[in-house]
Amino acid sequence: PKADDMPRKGADDIETLREEAADCRACPLYKNATQTVFGEGAQTARIMLVGEQPGDKEDLAGKPFVGPAGQMLDRALDEAGIDRRKVYVTNAVKHFKFVPRGKVRLHQKPNTPEIRACRQWYERELAAIKPELVVAMGATAAQSVFGKITPINKNRGRPIDLDDGTRVLVTVHPSYLLRLPDAEARASEYRRFVQDLKIAAGALR
Ligand code: URA
Repeated sequence: PKADDMPRKGADDIETLREEAADCRACPLYKNATQTVFGEGAQTARIMLVGEQPGDKEDLAGKPFVGPAGQMLDRALDEAGIDRRKVYVTNAVKHFKFVPRGKVRLHQKPNTPEIRACRQWYERELAAIKPELVVAMGATAAQSVFGKITPINKNRGRPIDLDDGTRVLVTVHPSYLLRLPDAEARASEYRRFVQDLKIAAGALR
C-alpha cells in the first residue's frame, strides 16, 4: 500500500502540525495576523505552558512568548527552577488579534468561537508532547484547556486532574502582572506566580 493508505499510528509530530497550522483558516484571525504562531519547545517536555495568544512581538517573530510577557515568564521560570528549554510553550489561540490604533496594534481578547476553533491545535500538541502537566496561564488558556469557562482564582495553584487524564495547574497570565499599576501588588503577585510555577515543578510524578 502507498504511504497515504497506511493507518495512522499515534500522534503527528510538532513540525508536521506546525506546517499544517501555518495555513489554518478555522477562524477569521488569520486575515490580519502576520503568521500563525505555533507552540515550540522540547518534544520530550514534561510541562506544557499555555498562554492566551501571540502579542505584537510574537506575531512578527513567529515565536511564542518573546515579547514583554515572555521576558516576565522567562524570569519567573528561572526563579522557579524550571528550564525554559525543557518545557513546551504554546498559546490557546495561535493568531494575534488586535485593532490598529495609530502606529500600534492593540491586543484584543480572543472570543469563545475563536478559542474553540483553535482548540484542535492545542489538542494535537497535547497528543504529540504528552506532558505530565499543563500549566494554563490566564482565563483564555484555562477556557481552552478545560474546554469551558473556568475561573482562575478558585482553581489556581494546585494540580487538577481532568476526565481526559490531563493534569492541569491554573495560574495567572504574565501580562496580568505587567498591567498591575501598583508596584507592591505587582511584586506580591509576581511572587505568587513564581510560587505556582514551583508547585507545577513539584507536581511532576
Ligand atoms: N501573551 C501570550 O499569551 N502569549 C504570547 O505568546 C505572548 C504574550
